[in-house]
Amino acid sequence: MRIGILGAGNMAEALGGQWVRAGHDVLVGGRSPERTAALAARIGARAGTLGEAARYGEAALLALPYDSVVGVLDAAGDLRGRVLVDCTNAVGPDLALTTGPGPGAARRIAAATGARVVKAFNHVTPAVWSRTPPVFADGPLAVPLCGDDEDALALVARLAEDLGCAPLVVGPLERADLLEATTAFLIGMWHSGRDPRTLLPPPAALGG
Ligand SMILES: NC(=O)c1ccc[n+]([C@@H]2O[C@H](COP(=O)([O-])OP(=O)(O)OC[C@H]3O[C@@H](n4cnc5c(N)ncnc54)[C@H](OP(=O)(O)O)[C@@H]3O)[C@@H](O)[C@H]2O)c1
Repeated sequence: MRIGILGAGNMAEALGGQWVRAGHDVLVGGRSPERTAALAARIGARAGTLGEAARYGEAALLALPYDSVVGVLDAAGDLRGRVLVDCTNAVGPDLALTTGPGPGAARRIAAATGARVVKAFNHVTPAVWSRTPPVFADGPLAVPLCGDDEDALALVARLAEDLGCAPLVVGPLERADLLEATTAFLIGMWHSGRDPRTLLPPPAALGG
């Protein structure tokens, strides 16, 4: 598959590196030609501009700060119908969502572009996505996916499998609001050195 990646930072390197290793043709687009070329060379991808990455291949990953995404995509031209993978976390320094009331980040990106947006890969760090494979004591890491288009969800599910993960479609894009809020909650716990896994009993213990 051909995959565009917008951004040349840590998420781009972790996910792009894995997809290149899985045999995909990846084009990384960044605002700094030097940093973009250096990253592309490190992971074996092509280098380009943000606009080229937005339009490249079957899907494009948005590995940019959330507050830059809509402006960058607007400058990239008509993206209606494109598969855009939103891994952003619109979380401020106070660990609250910066999107405020109303739709979350993924739904705002979908509304602004008309693209087929899938929320994915936002819930853990580049260190986890870089693991080969991201498998822990309970098995492969589950990757929650939210989206409204079945074909787009199936495509992104394949990209999650290519990492060695277990894709988990959890609902339409509307559910991404909850995934984004849950991730902000998890980040808050991890930042304070607490383990969110301790909150979760086995499902069988929950009763009726
Ligand atoms: N790091 C994590 O733990 C993590 C986990 C899950 C999701 N995410 C999300 O993934 C996204 C990328 O995170 P990251 O960790 O890869 O960040 P990063 O390492 O800081 O990389 C961000 C990239 O975005 C570019 N960028 C920043 N502002 C821009 C703008 N206004 N216009 C165009 N490009 C801009 C940067 O370009 P320069 O190199 O030129 O500065 C850089 O290439 C964020 O939305 C983040 O919330 C991060």
